Amino acid sequence: MKNFLKKKIQRLLISKNVMKFFYLFHYFNGGYKSKKIDISFKTKKNRIEIVQKIIDLKKFKTYLEIGTFKNELFSQIKCHSKIGVDPTSGGTVRDTSDNFFSKNTEKFNLIFIDGLHHYEQVKRDIKNSLYALKDGGIILLHDCMPRNYYYQAVPRCQIDWNGDTWRAFLEFRTKENVDSYCCYADEGIGVILKRKNRKKLELNQKNFSEISFNDYAQNYKHYLNLIEYEELLNVINDYE
Ligand SMILES: C[S@@+](CC[C@H](N)C(=O)[O-])C[C@H]1O[C@@H](n2cnc3c(N)ncnc32)[C@H](O)[C@@H]1O
Repeated sequence: MKNFLKKKIQRLLISKNVMKFFYLFHYFNGGYKSKKIDISFKTKKNRIEIVQKIIDLKKFKTYLEIGTFKNELFSQIKCHSKIGVDPTSGGTVRDTSDNFFSKNTEKFNLIFIDGLHHYEQVKRDIKNSLYALKDGGIILLHDCMPRNYYYQAVPRCQIDWNGDTWRAFLEFRTKENVDSYCCYADEGIGVILKRKNRKKLELNQKNFSEISFNDYAQNYKHYLNLIEYEELLNVINDYE
């Protein structure tokens, strides 16, 4: 009964009329005066190519995907052992990431986070993933590069949506004990490595849920530590 109601509410929240309402809400809340970012992913690598390349380069054996949806990525990945977690569809474990991590005892080489794109949830997914990561393992984070205000506004107000994943990623960019990059590809692929931060983001921001989209839009290359795919391969090759 609880799951049934949850699914109904989730469906309602992404119905056309509810999203139209939230679009108007976001418009008057700042969307109308927000900046746009001139980015396009058309000529860039996609997440399937990037995930598989990393697995092959590093000879990784264990892959975890948080948020699998229609298995567009999960089914394409070739890896010795794969776990996919989603409360609604795809993957191999029908549960939320929080529940999964609370019971999980395994460690993984590569974790792709692409579940609920809300700042607090993504932050928890990153923290839990760091704990569940093998030494020399890598965390990838989808949807770090929203191109305008509406792409990142919460509650969701359009089908194509990145959520405010970028806020959680920026917070980890300011930590001493993780090194992070964002690959300019497929909606922005955040890369988090378990080693000392080599380019720590210095931001005088206590609460990352309050950082403005306009601030992000003006500084996104520096804030994200943005790199191209070829540079990502160098980073991965040098990482032990
Ligand atoms: C953007 S889709 C994932 C797409 C998939 N990774 C791909 O690359 O094709 C997001 C998925 O996250 C799932 N999701 C929502 N809340 C979640 C949670 N708390 N834990 C794990 N997955 C969640 C949704 O059910 C949805 O299927």
